[in-house]
Amino acid sequence: MARILITSAIPYINGIKHLGNLVGSQLPADLFARYQRGRGNEVMYLCATDEHGTPAELAAAKAGKPVAEYCAEMHGVQADIATRFGLSFDHFGRSSSPQNHKLTQHLAVKLFENGLIEERAETQMYSPTDGRFLPDRYIEGTCPNCGYESARGDQCDNCTKQLDPIDLINPRSTVSGATDLEMRETKHLYLLQSKMKDQLEEWIDTREGWPLLTTSIAKKWLTDGDGLQDRGITRDLNWGIPVQFDGAPWSGMDGKVFYVWFDAPIEYIACALEWVEAGKGTDWERWWCTDKGASDVTYVQFMGKDNVPFHTLSFPATILGSEEPWKLVDFIKSFNYLNYDGGQFSTSRGRGVFMDQALEILPADYWRWWLLSHAPESSDSEFTWDNFQASVNKDLADVLGNFVSRVTKFCRSKFSEAVPQGGAYGAQEQAVIDELSTRIRAYEAHMEAMEVRKAAQELRAIWVAGNEYLQSAAPWATFKEDPVQAAAQVRLGLNLIRLYAVLSAPFIPFASAQMLTAMGVEDAQWPGDVAEALSALPASHAFTVPDNLFRKITDDEREDWQARFAGVRT
Ligand code: MF3
Ligand code: ZN
Repeated sequence: MARILITSAIPYINGIKHLGNLVGSQLPADLFARYQRGRGNEVMYLCATDEHGTPAELAAAKAGKPVAEYCAEMHGVQADIATRFGLSFDHFGRSSSPQNHKLTQHLAVKLFENGLIEERAETQMYSPTDGRFLPDRYIEGTCPNCGYESARGDQCDNCTKQLDPIDLINPRSTVSGATDLEMRETKHLYLLQSKMKDQLEEWIDTREGWPLLTTSIAKKWLTDGDGLQDRGITRDLNWGIPVQFDGAPWSGMDGKVFYVWFDAPIEYIACALEWVEAGKGTDWERWWCTDKGASDVTYVQFMGKDNVPFHTLSFPATILGSEEPWKLVDFIKSFNYLNYDGGQFSTSRGRGVFMDQALEILPADYWRWWLLSHAPESSDSEFTWDNFQASVNKDLADVLGNFVSRVTKFCRSKFSEAVPQGGAYGAQEQAVIDELSTRIRAYEAHMEAMEVRKAAQELRAIWVAGNEYLQSAAPWATFKEDPVQAAAQVRLGLNLIRLYAVLSAPFIPFASAQMLTAMGVEDAQWPGDVAEALSALPASHAFTVPDNLFRKITDDEREDWQARFAGVRT
């Protein structure tokens, strides 16, 4: 039994994620986790909310809530939606957990001791009224370039020019409105990534079989020098992991917290400690410490392409630089972007379908199937309502749903709600078994390789094979001449339903569970020998006719939804 550790990029705490976020990280990670569990492997799938940084502080302020309260609440909201989407995390943690505080501080000390963190003095805007240094985004003023009066310290939203707070005319604090800002000297911690360039480059170069998207982004950052500049890892914020703590090897860092991108990936590890604390298991070290068993683990990360530099360079720099035996990632699966109906999904403008809205209009499996079968793997892909409607109506309703309904209803009407005996399987049945044997092995290979679209295609072909068999065997016609043979055909059909439930569970877990329940089985064992798997339901085994598994999307609904989600989320 293999052991597989899986993490998906941890979503920012502020707001509910859209379908583009979902398909780029959590959903394919869930697909892989469910598949590996289905194959009988031991899986640890960890995810969490990414709770620090200015966006969290700003969102809390907008909601009129203390940031800790806002984050606790939003964590609950995101956890609930994840459950309803069938995301099967072993634990859904929080980057603000005490475990992450401790581990982040610990790793910073290690990096400092190994000469990879240094203090650097710099001047920065200080607000005496607020009693704090202001991060760039907390300063507003008039743009020196275009005269726009609400330009931010980092950028002018009007003319898009990148700015330095010192460039602003009449700068003021967005915290208090104070205008008596002054430049003061302060110091920050820098992670000396440049010192690690060779080590990281060698590591990337020796990764075998990594997706091109992943390695090309990593290489670009390495050679452009951009990604491997030394990086400031502290910020002047209240909310975050304090830089000054008992036993810290530096002083004078009060009021500063670690940069969100420093502590967020560390949460992948801390999440396993939270998993222990939550009483879900005991031995987290066998997943994360290579001196305590984790060298046998295969670790796979899932993320959108914008996250690749942090996972190929920054986080490995933390891990390698600590010189402690932490498990490094074995495989990074990254995704391009999913666009929405002729444009982009946009969280700030509320454009597109968000996870909560999706579930208001259709069950999770409809979305899971469309998103995964159209995953933006080799290029960006696009969600359109036409395509969604066509795919749901054809693949789910006409092919899979219809198959299940025809077989079970026919059996009930001509025999009973139990598997009929009938004769032995003949040539036609053998042909399906042969086709499925080939297809299932191909399906497995695509799943192992995390080729999500190819796996979906193969699964669809597996469903189609059953439909075509049913169409040509035509038990309703056979029944008139040879009820014994018709019974054998139905017996195969019912067994195919059970097999489909098992194979489809990673993509559409809810419908799969419904199919298994209808077939009256708990045995969801992955098929080895297909002929054997197709005799799992013996004659006279009782089943029930399930409710319609999938309904069709009407043209009216499609038009209605397209109009409803074109505008701005309120
Ligand atoms: N919150 C980030 C995003 O949504 C992802 C953080 S992934 C981690 O883009 F590595 F930092 F954990
Ligand atoms: Zn401007």
